[in-house]
Amino acid sequence: MSRIVIVSNRTPGKGPVAGGLAVALRKVLSEREGFWFGWSGKLTEQPAREARFEDIDGLQVGQIDLTRDDHHAYYAGFSNSILWPSFHLRLDLATIESHWYEGYRRVNHQFARALLPLLKPDDVIWVHDYHLIPLASELRALGARNRIGFYLHIPFPTADALYAIPHHEELMRDLSRYDLVGMQARRDVAAFTEFAEHQMPSTFGGHRSETIDFSRTEVDAFPIGSDPDAFARLSVSPAGTKMVHRMKRALGDQRLILGVDRLDYSKGLPQRVEAYEKLLANNARLRRSVHLLQVAPPSRDSIKEYQETSDTLDAMCGRVMGHFAEPDWQPLTYVKRAYGQPSLAGLYRLAKVGLVTPLRDGMNLVAHEYVGSQNPADPGVLVLSRFAGAAEIFPEALLVNPFDTDETAEALRIALDMPIEERQQRWQALMNAAKHHNVDNWAASFLDRLAPGSMPQSGTRDILYLASVA
Ligand code: F6P
Repeated sequence: MSRIVIVSNRTPGKGPVAGGLAVALRKVLSEREGFWFGWSGKLTEQPAREARFEDIDGLQVGQIDLTRDDHHAYYAGFSNSILWPSFHLRLDLATIESHWYEGYRRVNHQFARALLPLLKPDDVIWVHDYHLIPLASELRALGARNRIGFYLHIPFPTADALYAIPHHEELMRDLSRYDLVGMQARRDVAAFTEFAEHQMPSTFGGHRSETIDFSRTEVDAFPIGSDPDAFARLSVSPAGTKMVHRMKRALGDQRLILGVDRLDYSKGLPQRVEAYEKLLANNARLRRSVHLLQVAPPSRDSIKEYQETSDTLDAMCGRVMGHFAEPDWQPLTYVKRAYGQPSLAGLYRLAKVGLVTPLRDGMNLVAHEYVGSQNPADPGVLVLSRFAGAAEIFPEALLVNPFDTDETAEALRIALDMPIEERQQRWQALMNAAKHHNVDNWAASFLDRLAPGSMPQSGTRDILYLASVA
């Protein structure tokens, strides 16, 4: 069987993990031969050309260092100040400095140069996320003939947002160098197809047109999942139970509403706190009997927009405290710190409401983890943004428009008042979906489709995209 080579910006580390990607892929590689490749987390003036290998919790991990300038242009710059906001339809929060593209390209080239000598001809390469869109092009330019797949963990943007990205034509061409492109949700495949099939490129500036040929690239939705059975076990593990007891002591009779998110503007945290404020304002009977816990580990905090989101959230939480707190009652707790999976599983199990309301999200694994951790006899209710990829597979959640804080406040009330039979029915359907879409099935379905000799499926699109090039 071919080895699997996973490539991502971050490689797995030790300690609590905030994002879902590392959690999901660690499991894939612990069960198959191969290695993981990515950035070491170190910045040096003159990075070695060759990767160095480390055994991290039984995983073989090849890593390279980056220069400070390249890392800034590639990670904080092009990836997280241009691609991330544009793909999340937040052009207002994008900072377009087109020279960052050169650093982004340089780092992708550096990845390819260090990875190529490590490859065997039949290795299957699985590249992850928007940091590494050009990697297949770079590898192919150096002679790699391997099967290469790409998985986008964030949403695919609409045509207008894609047009706002400098060098978007080249990024589309880069996608056409993969054998398989996987997306989180059907809506992402539809946005990609709409762009690739119908959007004519700009013809300003005397650019000539060139065809991008997607006929050898399969594009399909592979909704990622978690490991709901593992979360079920963790939620009653000693560490999970310890957290449950600790919280029960703190909460007394109050019912817990829980949010767990990286501190990111795409997660809709200020809107969420506003919705909670409206819940308390509209339902005086709930004051003193509910408590919102928002866990929000800081993320990408060298970027101004992230600092501003953090400040906004501080102010929002302060406002709600000022409005509703009493000497012996606090309406919310806001924790800017990451917790390990066992503690989170305990928190999920205790929470009567899982509040997952991103403004736009690729999938959102917190929704899956919340479902997995529930007590089947007395499950909580998932309040879920209809703009998370998870909404496509969890229609039995209370789906809300996170921009409409009145609607979210009302969904919170409905969730808190929901009779046990309905909670059980909804949760059972959610748990079935979480099991069906678990991380093992996700990885297996992507890797089966990427395997050498696999037959193209009905989802395959033959697309010729006409790009204008300078
Ligand atoms: O899910 C999107 C993603 O960018 C992942 O690739 C990453 O693991 C996670 O968010 C955390 O982001 P960062 O690596 O920028 O801290």
